[in-house]
Amino acid sequence: MTAPWIARRVRLASPCLQIAAIRVTVEIIRSKRPERMSEGAKIIMVQAKNKSVVVSKEDLDRSVGVEHYLAPVVRDLVALAVNGKQAHWHVRGANFIGVHEFLDEVVAHAQDGADEVAERIVALGLPVDARIGTVAKKASLPEATEGFQQSDATIREVVAELDAVLTTVYAAVSGLDEIDPTSQDIVIALAQQLDKDRWFLASHLMA
Ligand SMILES: [Fe+2]
Repeated sequence: MTAPWIARRVRLASPCLQIAAIRVTVEIIRSKRPERMSEGAKIIMVQAKNKSVVVSKEDLDRSVGVEHYLAPVVRDLVALAVNGKQAHWHVRGANFIGVHEFLDEVVAHAQDGADEVAERIVALGLPVDARIGTVAKKASLPEATEGFQQSDATIREVVAELDAVLTTVYAAVSGLDEIDPTSQDIVIALAQQLDKDRWFLASHLMA
């Protein structure tokens, strides 16, 4: 259990944490204020831009673990939102209105999901890198086709993109099981929405 004075300092300091700094310089200090620490607790001092902040090892492990699983989800959702708009603009042919309009719902769900997942990482004190260059390099989605295309081809492409995002999301669901149930709840709800979007979209192809 984290001592109250540690919890207070975590709340005050956590926005200052920088994940790169955490990975580079972590020093375990066992001797500070032992009379106020729970038995076996470890205190970690993190150097971040000339500031020292103190967090419990448990809180640091949780934040780093959550960032590890949620950051790829954010980047995949940002990529899905961008490619979904591209598909929305360039789809042609059968069921045009239905596909065109539903693709905007896929985009909205991806944007909302990215916002919620990114803010979970930030709420635990770590930054998230979803700059466009990072998304282009690291997102797991297949490349989208340039220009106009028939709706069947567009649907197959977006379903494949949803499958890639879902793989990342389900990896987060599994990985977060013993790290942070609150973050796991977020990706479980996200998986439910993405599975539904995939069903609605793929149903256009079914006879
Ligand atoms: Fe539009």
